[in-house]
Amino acid sequence: VKSTELVAKWRKNLVGQNHAIDVIIPYINRYRANLHMPRRTVGNFFLTGPTGTGKTRTPETLARVLHGDERNVLVINCETFQADHEVAKLIGSPPGYLGHKETIPMLSQAKINAVSSEECNISIILFDEIDKASAALWRMLLNILDKAELRLGDNSTSDFQNCLIFMTSNKGSVEISRELYGGFGFDRKERFDGLTDQAKVKLEKLGRRSIEDGFSPEFFNRIDETIVYRPLTQNELVAITELELSKIASHIQDRLGKHAFLLEYGAEAVDAISKLGTDSRYGARFLKRTIDKLLFNPLCNAYLDGDVTSGSVVTIIRQDETVNWNVALPSVIDIDEALDEFLQESGVVQ
Ligand SMILES: Nc1ncnc2c1ncn2[C@@H]1O[C@H](COP(=O)(O)OP(=O)(O)OP(=O)(O)O)[C@@H](O)[C@H]1O
Ligand SMILES: [Mg+2]
Repeated sequence: VKSTELVAKWRKNLVGQNHAIDVIIPYINRYRANLHMPRRTVGNFFLTGPTGTGKTRTPETLARVLHGDERNVLVINCETFQADHEVAKLIGSPPGYLGHKETIPMLSQAKINAVSSEECNISIILFDEIDKASAALWRMLLNILDKAELRLGDNSTSDFQNCLIFMTSNKGSVEISRELYGGFGFDRKERFDGLTDQAKVKLEKLGRRSIEDGFSPEFFNRIDETIVYRPLTQNELVAITELELSKIASHIQDRLGKHAFLLEYGAEAVDAISKLGTDSRYGARFLKRTIDKLLFNPLCNAYLDGDVTSGSVVTIIRQDETVNWNVALPSVIDIDEALDEFLQESGVVQ
């Protein structure tokens, strides 16, 4: 696959963060050209920036592009590996210890290889929310970043030379969001139309400062690239909404096959859903939940009840200028109540 094709495909799936893609792609190309440095990972990236802008989504979409499957990512959710015995789930415990060999450690060579594919032998590993990592996890991470290898509990070693390592920081994201939006009085109807150059510089500074403050220099020195994600513009949020809707539409086709119904929507509906499910402060963080609650769950119910049957054409329409809109079906589903309840639950509106 040509690099330009990779980039084009990735941009379609990861919206509005081209600067991140442009930083990561050269590392992948170097590896594919067999010209990367030995005893180093393919590349390691520290992602920070406002919430809901695609940091966690980055390795997932890359897996889709490289391997044809978003699930080809080894995800270490750092928050869940606090205690030492939990770190043992990653590297295993020495022979003779209780629990030894009960399960295959997550960072064993076998598990790393399992997320590569025939198309591409790069394994993508995500350490999500590393600011919540325990001291033991930190030591482990430093080892990996240093020599691209890790000794496991049973004395075997895992090789990370064909791994792309992503690390995301949530702490930074909360701080940055607060600085970006705090006091400026953006409300959810007032969308960001993209950053000015000045704001971009400020955002970079904020991002880097949040890392320098929160993490040790020895960690910082081992990072190949720090990438500060940008808040998404209204147009980008609409594009993401369209992406998520098309995923649901094809999911329905894939799962139901010849019993499937057709999901139709025009630009107006996409726009309305994006207004409900995204905003400048939370990015697309609540989008999937919004779509589930407003559209997907009622659709499933309608299908179960027989209101929507195989071959039905379900058109999502927007009913008026406010938040009321319905799924137009042979019989119409009213989702207003679900909507109000959801918006309050999720804290999007008070
Ligand atoms: N740039 C983007 N391109 C495509 N989808 C996106 C993008 N940003 C967010 N999304 C959508 O929003 C969801 C949440 O994004 P993601 O988990 O990547 O946020 P995040 O930046 O990791 O935020 P947090 O700091 O809160 O963890 C994704 O699953 C995806 O559906
Ligand atoms: Mg995240």
